[in-house]
Amino acid sequence: MHTPLCDIYEIETPLFAFSHSPKVVAAVSKAGGFGVLGAAGMEPEQLDRALQMLTRECTGKSFGIDLIIPEKYVGREEGGLSLETLQSHIPQRHRDFLDQLLEEYHVPKQPAPVTFASRAGMGISEKRGKQLVDIALSYPVKLIVNALGVPPAYIIERVHQQGVRVGALVGAVKHAVHQKEAGVDLIVAQGFEAGGHTGEITTMVLTPQVVDAVAPLPVATAGGIASGRQMAAALALGAQGVWTGSVWLMTEEAETHPVVKEKFAQATSSDTLRSRASTGKPARQLRSAWTDAWEDPDNPDPLPMPLQSLLTMDAQQSIQQDARQGGEGGKKLINYFVGQSVGMLKQIRPAAEVYQAIIQECEETLTRLTQ
Ligand SMILES: Cc1cc2nc3c(=O)[nH]c(=O)nc-3n(C[C@H](O)[C@H](O)[C@H](O)COP(=O)(O)O)c2cc1C
Repeated sequence: MHTPLCDIYEIETPLFAFSHSPKVVAAVSKAGGFGVLGAAGMEPEQLDRALQMLTRECTGKSFGIDLIIPEKYVGREEGGLSLETLQSHIPQRHRDFLDQLLEEYHVPKQPAPVTFASRAGMGISEKRGKQLVDIALSYPVKLIVNALGVPPAYIIERVHQQGVRVGALVGAVKHAVHQKEAGVDLIVAQGFEAGGHTGEITTMVLTPQVVDAVAPLPVATAGGIASGRQMAAALALGAQGVWTGSVWLMTEEAETHPVVKEKFAQATSSDTLRSRASTGKPARQLRSAWTDAWEDPDNPDPLPMPLQSLLTMDAQQSIQQDARQGGEGGKKLINYFVGQSVGMLKQIRPAAEVYQAIIQECEETLTRLTQ
C-alpha cells in the first residue's frame, strides 16, 4: 500500500490520523502512520508541552499539527477582536435562551476556566494561528494543516522556508483549486459524512473530482473512513492516502468525555447531523438535546463564528461536568463532533490496534480486488 505520500512524509502507510489527544497522535505515528495534532483552541504552552512529548516519543517518526484559521469569521477584517468586543456582539436573547435550556435540564451553571474564553473566542484568529505555527516550527513537524480556508500567504511562506509542508482541508473542487494556487502541498478532500466542519458533497463524489482538479498535487481523502475497506476505496478513487478523525475518538488514548464514548457506542450512522449549534459554522456532530434545541425554529439561530463558541462555552462546561457526575440533563444534552462512521465504532481499543486493523483490512482488500 505504498503511495508517493509515504516517501514524501516518510511514513510506512499513507494513513493520517487527526486527533486532539497527543497520545493518539503518538500511537499512530509510532505505528507507521502520520499523527496530526489538532492544535486549534490550544493555549501556546499546551501546544509546546504536547510537541515536546511527541518529539520525545516519536523519534524518527512523522507527525504534524492542524490549525483553524478561517477565511471568514467575525472580526477577521480587524485582525481579531478583543474578547470584550466579541462579548458585546452576543445578544441578550441568546444568553437568556441558554440559561433557560440549562434550567430546563437541571444543569447547574459552572463558569468555564478563563483560558476557555481565549480558546473559544480568539483561538481561531490569524494572530493566534501565527503564534502556534511559530511554536510548531521549533519542533521537527513535517506538516502544518489548516481548515476552513486558504492559510494566510505569510504563514505558507514561513512554513515553506523551514522546509515543512502545508496541507489544507477542502469540501469543494473550487476550494481545492484555490489551495493549489496558494501553494499548498497536500489537499485533504473531506466529504459530507466527516465529523467536524464539513461541506455538502460526499466523499465518493468529491474525491475523484479533487484528484483531477489539482493533479499532480497529492490528495488524501477524509470523511467516513474507519475501516480498511473504506481506505482501499479511497485509494481506488485516486487519493494517495486517507485522513481520519472520528475513528480515533473511540480509542483508549483518546480524551473523549466518558459519557460521549458511551453515546457513540450506542449511536447509529443516522444519529449525526450537520449543525451550527456548536461553533456557528456547519459541523457534523452527534444529535442530542443540545442540537435539537438549537435546530428548533422557535429558538434563536446559532451565532456566527466565533460568537457561538464564546456564547456557549460556559454552558458546555456545565453540561460536561453534570454528565460526568451522572446528571440526567447533562447526559441528554452532551454531544461532540463525530462523523457518520460513528455507527461502526462500537468498541474502545488501543489506537495502535485500530491502526493495524485498518491497514491489514486495506491490504487484504487490495489483494482481493487484484486477484
Ligand atoms: C472531534 C473532531 C474534531 C475535529 N476538529 C478539527 C479541527 O480542529 N481541524 C480540522 O482541520 N479538522 C477537524 N476535524 C475534522 C478531521 O480533521 C477529519 O477531517 C474528519 O474527522 C474526517 O472524517 P471522519 O470523522 O469521518 O474520519 C475534526 C473532526 C472531529 C471528529
